[in-house]
Formats: sequence, C-alpha cells, structure tokens
Amino acid sequence: MAVYKAVALVSKLTQAGAVVKVMMTESATKFVNPLSFQVMSKHDVYTDTFDEKDSNVIAHIDLADWADLIIVAPATANVIGKLANGIADNMVTTTLLATTKPVWIAPAMNVHMYEHPAVIRNIDRLYKDGIRFIEPSAGFLACGYVGKGRLEEPEKITALVAAFFQPKKLPLKGKKVIVSAGPTLERIDPVRYLSNFSSGKMGFAMAEAARDLGADVVLVHGPVSIPIPNGMRVISVESAEQMYEAILSEYDKADIVVKAAAVADYRPKHPATQKIKKTSTDQGLELERTTDILASLGAKKTHQLLVGFAAETNDVATYATGKLEKKNADFIIANDVSKTDRGFGSEQNTVTLYGRDFERAFPSMDKKQLAVQLFETILTQSGVAE
Ligand code: CTP
Repeated sequence: MAVYKAVALVSKLTQAGAVVKVMMTESATKFVNPLSFQVMSKHDVYTDTFDEKDSNVIAHIDLADWADLIIVAPATANVIGKLANGIADNMVTTTLLATTKPVWIAPAMNVHMYEHPAVIRNIDRLYKDGIRFIEPSAGFLACGYVGKGRLEEPEKITALVAAFFQPKKLPLKGKKVIVSAGPTLERIDPVRYLSNFSSGKMGFAMAEAARDLGADVVLVHGPVSIPIPNGMRVISVESAEQMYEAILSEYDKADIVVKAAAVADYRPKHPATQKIKKTSTDQGLELERTTDILASLGAKKTHQLLVGFAAETNDVATYATGKLEKKNADFIIANDVSKTDRGFGSEQNTVTLYGRDFERAFPSMDKKQLAVQLFETILTQSGVAE
C-alpha cells in the first residue's frame, strides 16, 4: 500500500533536514496508525479539522501558512477530484484550499482509475492551477497524464524536494544580455508591408532564460502578438533598421547578444507615403538590402559573445556553420523550419547548436526548456560559466 511508503517518505525528508508535519484523511488512518507518522516526524499528526491542538490558532489555516511546500502522497483519485473542484471537507482538502504555497501531488491509484477521463481531466485542471505532479519513473516534475499509478519512491521525492530548495544558480548575475526577437516589418506603403512568420516565442524564451539565470536583459523585439515577458528592459521596434539602432546603442555594455529575431533581408527601396493604387499593368517592387545586424555586430565585436540563429529548410549544417564564419558569431543555433510543427509559431523546437569546433543536437522540446539548456551549454562551452 502506497500509504506505507509515505511513512518512509517522512523519514527520508526528516533525514534530509526538512521539518515535516503530517495530515491524514480518515481513510488513511485505517491503513496506518497516525502514531507511526508522529514518531517519524516528531510532530503532532492532523486528522480532524475540528480537533484543534492549539487553541490560539486554527489548525488548517496555520498549517497552510506554516509549510513551505505541501506534498500530497499518496494522492488518491478522490483527493485529486476534490481539490480540482475546490471541495474542502476534511483536514487535508481544507488545508490544500487554504494554502498559497506550492503543492505537489504524488498520485497512487489503480491503473484504470488513473486512466479514467475524469481523473485525467482533474489532473489537467490542477496542473493549469499551478499544482505539480510527481509521476513514478518520470524523474522530474511533469504534468504527466501517463503513469502507472504507483507512488514514486520516497528517495526520488526527497531528491526533488532537496533540488527545489537548493539556492538557484545565477551564472549570469552582473552580465548584460541583449536578445532580439520576433520578425521585422518593412513598410511598402501606409497599409502594406513585408514581414515573416516569426512569432517571437523562441527569442522571448531566450530572454526569459537569461533573466532567470541572473542577467540584466534588454529585449529588442519586432511586432509580435504574444505576451511580453517581465523582469527585463523591453524595446519595441518595427523595421530592421530600428532594430539595428536599438541594439547598437546597447552593444558596448553588452556581454552577450542573442540574435533570435527573423530580420527582413530586404526592404522596399522607395516606401510610398500614400497608398499605392492598383493599375492594369503588373507592378514590380524594387527592394534593397537591409543591414545584416549580426554581421555588423560581428565586425564590431570587442568582448561580446555573439549568438545567432539560422532558420534553414535544407543543408542545415552547411549553412549554419557558414553563417558562424561569415558573421563572426561565436555560436549559431540552427533550426530546420521545413517542418511545420517545429520552429516558427510552435511551442516546440528542435535545434542544433554550432560553435567553433563544437556541435550539439538537442532533442525536440518546449522552447522555454530548450532556451535554458542552450544558455547553459553556451555558457559552459564559452567558459563564461563552469
Ligand atoms: N540577421 C541579422 N540581420 C539580418 C538578417 C539576419 O541580424 N538582416 C541575423 C538573424 O537574427 C539570425 C542570423 O542573422 O541570428 C541568421 O539569420 P537567417 O535569416 O537564418 O540568415 P540570413 O543571414 O538572412 O541568410 P539567408 O537568408 O541567406 O539564409
């Protein structure tokens, strides 16, 4: 029975230095005597909302505030269902509803119950509410609709808790990082423009990763329709030229520049100030080259680490390493934009990172997760962080 494992979990957590207080549902007390938990945790065990051990406080509110983290282990389909629906009818569910602290749920139930649409729906709801799930053999916190319904091993849960409370590493503290993101927009006339399909998601993910690693981030972005990240300085631009100027004005003080923007290579040579009217003959649009921002930054480079992107549909490695040389970049992150479910606009990306004498292919993953891994690899490879 999973509830026995919970006794071992309390023991492991206390050995790891955590102060643990245990709440039990009435059903749980039928399997394990609360005394076992009391002995392991060296604290009173809470089973009844109305059994107030300290008359100065209300137990469920007090516990909800006291904890830094609440773990529901083992979580039955019943408790998951109640929490997903905001039901608070015992000590455990009342405390869970009263807390503002992180809640982790380690489910344990029959495999068919676990696969029941109602349970899947409830887990999905709770995940969206910010609750995290510990799945057996997942090895990390995942939203996990799949799983065997077995409670994760106490050692693994304890390791996750220890990692959660580990002070975060901030290898980019004190460093200034410029990230460019999104498309640029080049006006043809007051109502028409040239642009591309870049959503800005990968660039924003890179900016957020740099921020979370401790950097002072300047985000320079073209027109996008996704939420702008917080915790950084944001400069909104429209054209390639405006993007170039914005980046250049910050370049001297920058330590790292990440050029994730999909910059237009051409712009109309003579943008019209009035709407161009249709005529009966074919119209040509005269274009001129925009500044290659990355190449210009590469030419002016003093101490900065330059990271570019390469969106390719074919011969990815050849073009990516070619851009590394031509633009004097230190790294190029290449993505194959020929696949419609990857790259432009999607949540996922599959990239290969190229450096001087370095190449690493990353598995397909969420752009935010990928951005963190890319930064960590770049920092280690370049010696900015060990
Ligand atoms: N880039 C830039 N300024 C431009 C064009 C591209 O700074 N005018 C940067 C992009 O931000 C990216 C890298 O150069 O980091 C490569 O962009 P990409 O569009 O893949 O390549 P291009 O240099 O435009 O070459 P091509 O269109 O021939 O593939």
